[in-house]
Order: sequence, then structure tokens, then C-alpha cells
Amino acid sequence: MGAGLLGTGASVTARSRGVFRTKSVEQTLRDTDEPGRRLHRTLKARHLMAFGVGIVIGTGIFTLTGQQAATNAGPAVVVSFLVAGLVSALAALCYAELASTVPAAGSAYTYSYATLGELVAWIIGWDLVLEFALGAAVVARGWSSYLAGLFDLPPELFTEEAPVNVGAIVVVLALGVVAAVGIRESARLTSLLVVVKVAVCVFVIVLGALYVKASNLTPFVPESRPAEAASGLDRPLVQAVLGIDPVAFGIGGVLAAAAVVFFAYTGFEAVSGLAEETEDPQRDLPRGLLGTLALCTLLYVGVALVITGMVPFTDLDTGSPLADAFRLVGAGWAADLIAVAAVAGLTSVILVDIVTMARIGFAMSRDGLLPRAVGAVHPRWGTPFALTLGITGFVALLAGFVPLGALAEMVSIGTLFAFLLVSVGVVVLRRTRPDLHRSFRVPLSPWLPAVSALACVWLMTNLAVATWLRFLVWLVLGLAVYVLYGRTRSRLAQAEATAAPTP
Ligand code: ALA
Repeated sequence: MGAGLLGTGASVTARSRGVFRTKSVEQTLRDTDEPGRRLHRTLKARHLMAFGVGIVIGTGIFTLTGQQAATNAGPAVVVSFLVAGLVSALAALCYAELASTVPAAGSAYTYSYATLGELVAWIIGWDLVLEFALGAAVVARGWSSYLAGLFDLPPELFTEEAPVNVGAIVVVLALGVVAAVGIRESARLTSLLVVVKVAVCVFVIVLGALYVKASNLTPFVPESRPAEAASGLDRPLVQAVLGIDPVAFGIGGVLAAAAVVFFAYTGFEAVSGLAEETEDPQRDLPRGLLGTLALCTLLYVGVALVITGMVPFTDLDTGSPLADAFRLVGAGWAADLIAVAAVAGLTSVILVDIVTMARIGFAMSRDGLLPRAVGAVHPRWGTPFALTLGITGFVALLAGFVPLGALAEMVSIGTLFAFLLVSVGVVVLRRTRPDLHRSFRVPLSPWLPAVSALACVWLMTNLAVATWLRFLVWLVLGLAVYVLYGRTRSRLAQAEATAAPTP
């Protein structure tokens, strides 16, 4: 690791504050060189972008665009995508600073350990591992259904009707093996799948543009009207707490849609988790993060504009709005192509989810917050293979046996929580360690990270009460595991115990 990164005169020991003990940046970077726990550095900025786009473009753009245009925003769903992209961009700048300052696996978990302390780090690591597991399982079931539709496969094995979703299990196991065998192999497969889905998005934009009618795009922001209130726990938290009546369309509707379509951007931060496998992390991580987001925003805005321009937005509330828009204008043949893109798109989401989860678990096991043995690196493959295969088994079980559709919003809340902590982390690390070399700096700090944190909180409050409750249960469970295991087993806690004078 570059010597400049280590700064000068910094303390290399953990600062002991009980469960709020922080792990020094120097220790974090030294740990990346620990024998038997060293990952292979082979990735460049283009591979990082492939991983980023690989995990970001999934079900969101294929389903939410039409649904939100029809129910909340009209053609201005384009603006909703821009707003959600902007919130993501603020967080991406914060990730870029921390990833280039602390280029170690583990992403938000690692940054939190260096800034907000062990307990917060554990909570966010726990949150991320399970969010990515849930994301992979949800997407694997979607993948299975798309494949069944494309090739007329038996629904009793491949769709939500299936008692055991064999399609979802098979795809998770196959991708888990690729993830375990090597990061280069995973990067190659991801790049291929990304080329397919980006090509199809560009195709949708170019072909769709030929069918756009200006009349479909006016009024661009349909007039605001009261919306049917969701019932009970399905209400957004902000509406339930403040007793606000929901509106559809108008500016309120466009902003509500932004909170929903944010899901389509989730995942780009996975790029930062590949820090230890990147040849020049200080240069390439910011490029990978910001490049991924720029490309995805461009494609999303283009697709949203074209789709709402092709048919009246009221016709778009279907399960597969992109394909249906082409059917409605008489170009049904394009629908199959879109299904192919969806299958390719979802495959790479599952793969990058598994890769990312394994890196977070790897960092946690290196710190002793999970059993050390599970984080061993394979001598030839250079991956945390045991963790990767273990996680794969867990995801396969979830995907095969649990209908998870309703839990997709959990992915958004988990992501936003991580973004929030990363935004706060930038400001904290600037104060506690101003001496560290930062190859990328967030402009206008602390204001921009503060706006990023507030934007995340605002989007979180727009998620359903039920999602908040599930999230809290999840965190309490994590807290219990920490108290029972990590609190005393963490390497920092053990180092403190050894250093403490015996009475
Ligand atoms: N962002 C990913 C998607 O849209 C999770 O499916």
C-alpha cells in the first residue's frame, strides 16, 4: 500500500472506547497484507465499472419506470430518476473519498470501523450482508420467472407458483461457483452480461425514439390529485407519522416516485468493496464509482423518456412496461429482446451480490467479528472461497424456498442506511484524521456530505412503516449477535484485553 496513504505521526493503535473503539486506518491497511488473507489485485477501472453496472441495472428499470409513471409521476418520472440519481451521486462522492482513503474490502463496514466505531461497523456490516443476500434471492426468483417466460419452462419449477423454485436455486449455485473460483472469472462473465444489457438499453432508447409522440409527454407533470392511501403498515413512514394525505402526480408525486425508483440505483457502492482486488485503488475506485453512476443515470433517464413518450403513461402500469410499450406500438418482436436483456441483467446482479457479500463478510472475519476461519483465502483462486460458498448456500435456500417479493424494499432501506453512515463518516474522518492522504476529496465538505445524509434520511422516511419495522427487527437481531459473539472476540477487544494490566 502506498506509503503516502499512511500520513505522518498517526497513532497505529485502536482508540479504546469500549464498543465504540475505532480501528486505525493504518491497521486496516496493514491487515490487507496479512498472509493467507491477501486477495488478488487484478482489477482496473473498466472492470469496476462492469461490476457496478452489473449490479445496478436489474429489475428496477424494467418494472418501476412504468409503474411509477402510471401511478405517481407521469412523464416526469424522468425527473424522479434524475432526483434519485442525484441523491446517489452525492453518496457516490462520499464513497469515492472514503474508498480512496481507506482502500480495503468491506466498504461501509470498514469505513464505519475507522470512523464511528466497532458497534456501528458491525451493525452496518450485518445490515449489508443480509441486504445483499436478500437482494440476490429476490432477483434470483425474478430471473427464474423471466427465463420461464422466455423458454416456456414448467411454472411448477420456475415461477412463484413453484413450491421449490428450482430455477432460482440452480442460478445461485452456478454463479456462486464462478464467484468462488476467481475475481477475474467473475469480472469476465459480468462484463459480457453488462454488454448485453447496456446494448439492449441503448437499443430501447434508439428504437423507442422513433415512436415517441410529443402529445404523450404533455402535460409533463400531470396535475396533482389525492391518491388512494395505502393501508396500515404499507404507508410511507413520513405519512403515517405526520398524518399527511398522499398525493399522486404534481411535484409531490414526482418526489414520492423518486423514493421508489431509488431502488434502481442501489448496488453501485459494491464497487468500493473491491478495493483490495483493484490494481490502483486510489485512482480507479473513484472512477469506477462515479463512472457507474453516470452511465446508469444516462441510460435510466433515456429509457424513462422514451417509454413515456411512446405510449400514454396511463397504459404503463403493467408488470413488464418496457416490453408492453413496444407491443402497444406494434413492435412486439422487441419484447423478446428486452426479456433477454432482463435475464442477462439479473444474472449479473446475482453474481455481483454474491461477490460483494463475500468481501464484507471477509473483512468482518478478518477483524474477528465473525469466526476467523471462515475468511480464509484460497491459495490459487485468491478469493474468500469458503465464505463465498457458504453465502451461496444461504442465498440458494432463501431463493428456493421463501417468497420474497414483498421484501424488496428492504434492499433500499439497507442501502440508504449505509449511505447515511458513509456520508457522516467523511466528515468524521476529515476531523479525526486530517493528515491522511486523500486522492479524491468530496467538494464543499462538510456541506455536501450533510446534504447527502439528509437526502438519505428523506428517502428512508418515504419507505413503508412495515419496511422500517422489519429493518429494526433485523438490527436488533444483529445487536444480539454482536453482544454474544463479536464484542469479546473482535481482534481489537482481544488486543485491549491483553494489553490491560492484570490487577
Ligand atoms: N438496482 C438493482 C435493480 O434495479 C437492485 O434491480
